[in-house]
Amino acid sequence: MEGRDVVVINQPLLPHRFEILRLKNHRQTADAIKTMIIRGAGTIGATAGYGFAQAWLEGADLDEAYQTLVTTRPTAADLKHALDRVRANATNAKQAVAVAEAIADEYVERALKIAKAGLPLIKNGSRVLTHCNAGWLALEDWGSATAPIYLAHRKGRKVFVWVDETRPRCQGANLTSWELLQEGVPHKIIPDNAAGFFMRRGEIDLCIVGADRIAANGDAANKVGTYTKAVLARENGIPFYVAAPAPTFDMKCKSGDSIPIEERSEDEVHYVSGCTERGKIERVRISHPDARAANPAFDVTSAKYITGFITEFGIIKPGEVKKRFSK
Ligand code: MRU
Repeated sequence: MEGRDVVVINQPLLPHRFEILRLKNHRQTADAIKTMIIRGAGTIGATAGYGFAQAWLEGADLDEAYQTLVTTRPTAADLKHALDRVRANATNAKQAVAVAEAIADEYVERALKIAKAGLPLIKNGSRVLTHCNAGWLALEDWGSATAPIYLAHRKGRKVFVWVDETRPRCQGANLTSWELLQEGVPHKIIPDNAAGFFMRRGEIDLCIVGADRIAANGDAANKVGTYTKAVLARENGIPFYVAAPAPTFDMKCKSGDSIPIEERSEDEVHYVSGCTERGKIERVRISHPDARAANPAFDVTSAKYITGFITEFGIIKPGEVKKRFSK
């Protein structure tokens, strides 16, 4: 936060253009979360905390601001966690900003602990599949799924990443690949449907994904397509890990069935955006104008497919989630 502005990376422009946006008030911040200018559970949480602090600074109606922010992305547990924490711990604008700062700073510490907890899983020569973007754009400063990968790479271990393209918003092709290029980590983007091909050929050693909400029974919601990869991993005897910080665990959800799944505009399926050869970012339609589409943003992976959760408290088995995260 700078002054009253929340300062963010305009993620939909990546990897073609790097642009910083200043969000001037809580409504602009809510809109940036909703339209996925920023996205990823951790970044959504941190940004929402700042957005609520902005509402304090503006002297806005706090109940209204809370509602505006909390309804932006219904699946990410971190969103409500951050808003509730600011609401419970601030009695003035200065305190609200301080709580929001603390939430964001803690995410950085949590991510580093996730990196350390997951490091032993990355052997020299490991080939890791990841889905969507659970990197530092999605959780400052290490990401969740990428945290052990980045740490292993910095320690000189040879690590290769298979990056699921992640239709329809292409977070893998646009964001994870861009991050891996910044970090110098060797990787290849693969079409979403290709993971089984590489698993069957023995070219994937483990999978690590992030999560948007994890239920008490160890079911985990993450970007749509995660479930398919987990089932395929089981079929091929490949360990499947979910990396996430504590605010993503929601013990109020008994199982994945009670996790709200966001449904987004069908236009995200009909249109793709990219960069023309002349360097212009454009959107083109790929389906017939009369075609309809469905666009669930997340799916639920049953606990039985998850080898373990990489958390700031170490690696936890799905059956241990309830005990670890119940207050
Ligand atoms: O719709 P998105 O891009 O916000 O979805 C992001 C994911 O599914 C990530 O894997 C998840 O939020 C974990 S980020 C640390």
